[in-house]
Amino acid sequence: MSSKVKEIKTDFLIVGSGLSGLYSALYASNFGNVLILTKSSIQESNSYWAQGGIAVAIDNYDSVDFHYDDTISVGCGLNNEVGVNIMVNEGLQRVLELIEQGVEFDGSETGLDFGIEGGHSRRRILHALGNETGKAIVDLLSKEIKKRKNIKILEDAYVMNLFSNSKSCFGCLVFDDNKKNKIAIHSKATILATGGGCGIYYKSTNPSSTSGDGIAMAIDAGAVVTDMEFVQFHPTAFSKNGSQSFLISEALRGEGGKLINHSKKRFMENYSDQMELAPRHIVARAIFNEMRANGEKNVFLSLKHLDSSRIKTRFKNIYELCMREGIDITKDDIPVSPAAHYMIGGIKTDLFSRTNIMNLYACGEVACSGVHGANRLASNSLLECLVFAKRAIDSAVELSRKFEKIPSSLIKKSIKYSLVSSDKKVERYLSHRIALSQVVNNYVGILRNKKDLLFALSEISTIKKNDLDSFDLIDSRLMNLKTIVYLITKSALLREESRGVHVREDFSSQSDKWLKHINWKIFNKTLRFTYSEHQ
Ligand code: SIN
Repeated sequence: MSSKVKEIKTDFLIVGSGLSGLYSALYASNFGNVLILTKSSIQESNSYWAQGGIAVAIDNYDSVDFHYDDTISVGCGLNNEVGVNIMVNEGLQRVLELIEQGVEFDGSETGLDFGIEGGHSRRRILHALGNETGKAIVDLLSKEIKKRKNIKILEDAYVMNLFSNSKSCFGCLVFDDNKKNKIAIHSKATILATGGGCGIYYKSTNPSSTSGDGIAMAIDAGAVVTDMEFVQFHPTAFSKNGSQSFLISEALRGEGGKLINHSKKRFMENYSDQMELAPRHIVARAIFNEMRANGEKNVFLSLKHLDSSRIKTRFKNIYELCMREGIDITKDDIPVSPAAHYMIGGIKTDLFSRTNIMNLYACGEVACSGVHGANRLASNSLLECLVFAKRAIDSAVELSRKFEKIPSSLIKKSIKYSLVSSDKKVERYLSHRIALSQVVNNYVGILRNKKDLLFALSEISTIKKNDLDSFDLIDSRLMNLKTIVYLITKSALLREESRGVHVREDFSSQSDKWLKHINWKIFNKTLRFTYSEHQ
């Protein structure tokens, strides 16, 4: 290999440092050396910012069967039922282990304090540090990880591509932004835990680093990607002119928060008997309708009737963030509107977190094992991360026992990547990124129709691959972005029905004809889709 490309060998290569990345890294370290790659820092993941908590049937009055039923009922017919059963049962074990390892979920001498969110039939959401559950767990895992000598972390590391011949994965090529060099990482098992892609939407609850790169690099490597039309919108993101949008947790509605319109009228009674605690897709759509009917940019969440000292302690972080924007949530109504929140689709995996490519595994939001169906039940995502991260490592330990030789053609390809991006290229990337974020926001949002989706596709097609100078990281990020936006839009166009989070104005009902999945894969260098019946 050229002297310009440094080489590293590791047993387990973990791409991503959210909950599934950290959990799988820690567990994998019992079996071999681990390298974690993160394109930002450990504090930048979606999991770190997760406000809601973990849904788990741990209370005596609850049962895994109730949790299973709620997950299935919200998933609108497309859940992998065996997967849901695994998630609620093994999830309980994983949470009990976390408690043993020292995660302190909030509670008092009388027991744990369970929250409730939309679609849950009982209070079962565990939370920590008030509404900083993700941070509490990520901090504990990070501390443990730092103690393990066989785990290395590379921050500011951008994966340029996976080394794959479409049958096997051998590792990846990474750009180390601190040392400004390329590293070829050779691994026995590669675990993609890169999170979702909702940061590509103009209005999103995710950090902008959440751009779906993991999905794009996997499909490039020959993996199958599925269910991309299912993008979950969170009903209540902070929404004030000139301010950044951030998550206003659904748990606030669990505490009794009321949604009101600009006439100060509660409106959820027109949409669901469950009022503010209806499943998330129903509340998001209701808010969207209300805004559209009244020509407003937001509605309000009102907490003024609730115990202000409990709100300030249980939701300290939201209280402080809103205060910075001039809103005292114990006295003022909070302006909110829906924002892209969670990508239900992703890299198709089986229930052992295996992709169709040998030695390549995926878990967490980047993966689609089918547990969420067409709509994810609130606070099921951290649970999914724990369960399927462990399953990924168990599979890798069993199946990925040796280093396979990286084909020399793959190495040759990586040598030609340029490390330097011209300012012009960076500018071009940023302007496309802003334009695409508006396109998906305005034309591939909560309410979709054929005309808008076709318009979005025509905008996407204007982005061309750079053939002029050498391909570099910026080119690869732009192409990743184009792939993700295309997959969401085209899948949304193909699915001619409304189901879960996917709502078509022109096909407004759910149809049994659509009890199937749209799967994507590259054939002859072109993205192609196939349908598979729902099992
Ligand atoms: C929230 O706190 O509302 C988000 C929880 C989730 O997305 O599951």
